[in-house]
Amino acid sequence: MSVRALWFTEGRLHVIDQRELPKRTRIRHLRRVEEVADAIRTLTVRGAPAIGVAAAFGMVLASRERGWTPDRAARLLRSTRPTAYDLFVGIETVRAAWARGEDPGRAAMAYRDQVVDECHEIGEAGAPLFLRRPRVLTHCNAGALATVEWGTSLAPLRVAKSRGAPIFVWVDETRPLLQGSRLTAWELLQEEIPHAVIADNAAGHFMRRGEIDAVIVGADRIVSNGDFANKIGTYEKAVLAHENHIPFYVAAPWTTFDVQRRSGASIPVEERSADEVRHFAGASVAPAKSPVRNPAFDVTPARYVTAYITPGGVATPARVGALARRHGLANGLTR
Ligand code: MRU
Repeated sequence: MSVRALWFTEGRLHVIDQRELPKRTRIRHLRRVEEVADAIRTLTVRGAPAIGVAAAFGMVLASRERGWTPDRAARLLRSTRPTAYDLFVGIETVRAAWARGEDPGRAAMAYRDQVVDECHEIGEAGAPLFLRRPRVLTHCNAGALATVEWGTSLAPLRVAKSRGAPIFVWVDETRPLLQGSRLTAWELLQEEIPHAVIADNAAGHFMRRGEIDAVIVGADRIVSNGDFANKIGTYEKAVLAHENHIPFYVAAPWTTFDVQRRSGASIPVEERSADEVRHFAGASVAPAKSPVRNPAFDVTPARYVTAYITPGGVATPARVGALARRHGLANGLTR
């Protein structure tokens, strides 16, 4: 079975409620732009490319409701999450079409198709890297749930498996919200891809033992020097991979590339509620009075990246800025 995170039919955006996986596959049917904003804020729908597509359809819903202008709807949707660049590209693509008097629905559908096609291209471009390095660690969820279809980090692994590679995925649980153990493991089960979930602090152990051949992650924002933001904990996996001489790959569509930003230092990092750290599976796991910090993302310097897997092919850190500029500048977005 292949997984699809969201779809738009009959004037409604349908999303798998990712907060409920893996216990239950519940579909939410969103009719209003405010419901889409809420779904993005609460991680009902999540993952950089998927929230870009969801927001694009949120703009479509706003265009069919009374009282919304393109700018007002864009402001609401932009306020939901600060780090994933795709969110802003998705919103801007439809805002601009709507403001020009074009059909927002057609713009959103074209945007969705582009994201899906680019993820497939990432799969084709990246698969050869894993034919002889089949035991791969991934962090968070950058599969179909995070991108609509295919995924970014999971796409090359899916394609490599279809070409006969004995792919085995090490799945970081990914505290605090467990996108690895709840979502990536669920996706891999659907497609019968062999895997094992490990605690976040176990990756170094398996790297040192020679049981991990490569690491692949997605990204929420990649800037022109190759620094990138991804789920908190990505940075330490990159440093560990470097220490253990293991290749470290970053897979992303063009909508993730913020080419006008020069380094990762200026990427906005979302800080989420303390309760996400204080509680685990409904139980309190820290004293209620202890202060908590909960950054949702970290920024990994380009020097730890072996290569980026893009829809335009595989690029080294030295080349990725120029390659992305050729494709990404058309977005013309800054924040
Ligand atoms: O907070 P989340 O679950 O939206 O974070 C998602 C990630 O960090 C993913 O790795 C990233 O968006 C890439 S998804 C292809």
